[in-house]
Amino acid sequence: MPRLGRRRFTTLAAAGVLGLAQLRARAFHQAVAQTGLKDAFKDDFLIGTAVDGRTIDDPSTPLAQLVAREFNAITPTNLMKWGPLEPREGEPQWAGPDRLVAFGAAHGMTVVGHTLVWHSQTPRWLFVDEQNAPVSKERLLKRIETRIRTLVGRYQGRVAIWDVVNEAIDEDEKGWRQSPFLNIAGPEYVERAFQIAHEADPKATLLYNDYNEHNPGRRRFLVDVIRDYKRRGVPIHGVGFQGHVGLEYPDFAEYEKSLQAIAAEGLPVHITELDVDVLPRASGYTGAEISTNFELSERLNPWKTGLPPEIDARLTARYRQLFELFLKYRQTIARVSTWGTFDGESWKNNFPVRGRTNYPLLFDRELKPKAAHAGLIALKAR
Ligand code: XIL
Repeated sequence: MPRLGRRRFTTLAAAGVLGLAQLRARAFHQAVAQTGLKDAFKDDFLIGTAVDGRTIDDPSTPLAQLVAREFNAITPTNLMKWGPLEPREGEPQWAGPDRLVAFGAAHGMTVVGHTLVWHSQTPRWLFVDEQNAPVSKERLLKRIETRIRTLVGRYQGRVAIWDVVNEAIDEDEKGWRQSPFLNIAGPEYVERAFQIAHEADPKATLLYNDYNEHNPGRRRFLVDVIRDYKRRGVPIHGVGFQGHVGLEYPDFAEYEKSLQAIAAEGLPVHITELDVDVLPRASGYTGAEISTNFELSERLNPWKTGLPPEIDARLTARYRQLFELFLKYRQTIARVSTWGTFDGESWKNNFPVRGRTNYPLLFDRELKPKAAHAGLIALKAR
């Protein structure tokens, strides 16, 4: 910790500006603010996290201070999604997003907007008219336009990066995802979203964001879309790889090919929602109520009271492997954001199965840095 000169302490204290103890505390906070993941990787990429309202409502809480110390980018986990932001048409709930953007600005962070158009967490009114009949294509496109102009316009110059369209590519690699957006408006809704966002803030970085980025079919489709958009002047500025990975998936060779493919198109990649699921894979049990089934619960949720050291070591190794890859592509990767800060708040405790105890992040349930955190800092000390 760098020292604040004794003379400065006593002068300020003598001047009665602050008490000595307060000054010491301030010096400590200033020094701590200089260290953390964001500093270790400052020459490589931004280091971000996702936060929700209660994390930043009170900037003096240990969690808010931890976020400010470790990260230089923040994304709202839910606050800007269409459903939470605008549960009733034309009545956006700005209080939370306003506070989040102000928190980011106060700490000199890059604020990321998430997400303008997504098939999930949509408000009830979005796809229907007053008679509860499906809306027309024109009306849906108009609603998309109004949302984007209002939201991007409000934070113009303050939200530097937008996840413009989220998860619009099909799981089965056949093209665009089937969703009410696609069914009503056709694939045009995706490019309209980029165009309007660009008009609303010409300086903002506009991303397409999705998961399973290692999947070769999705990679091919995405590259085709990027080429088509570039040819026709649709403003896409980068690709978000969500990065919801596990201890054993995805196949790193395929993941690397996807990084190379985006780099070859001349676009930056943002790792937007990184976390490492350590629990047994539960693909077949999505939505299962494991709490009522003892055997299933023991098998799928084995570490309710703590992570065994050997699994923690594998988590550390996995994070290091990921960051080694990110460092190798540091010319392409603009940002690495985890999806949440500490294990207790991770969505992975409830997905794909509800009510498990997962350990996917870099800080534990008591906000202490895990071994993976030191492991990442050590990558830079070599
Ligand atoms: C998740 C949030 O973390 C949860 O709190 C919420 O209940 C559901 O959504 N991909 C995304 C994120 O793009 O918005 C999702 O966030 C996780 C998957």
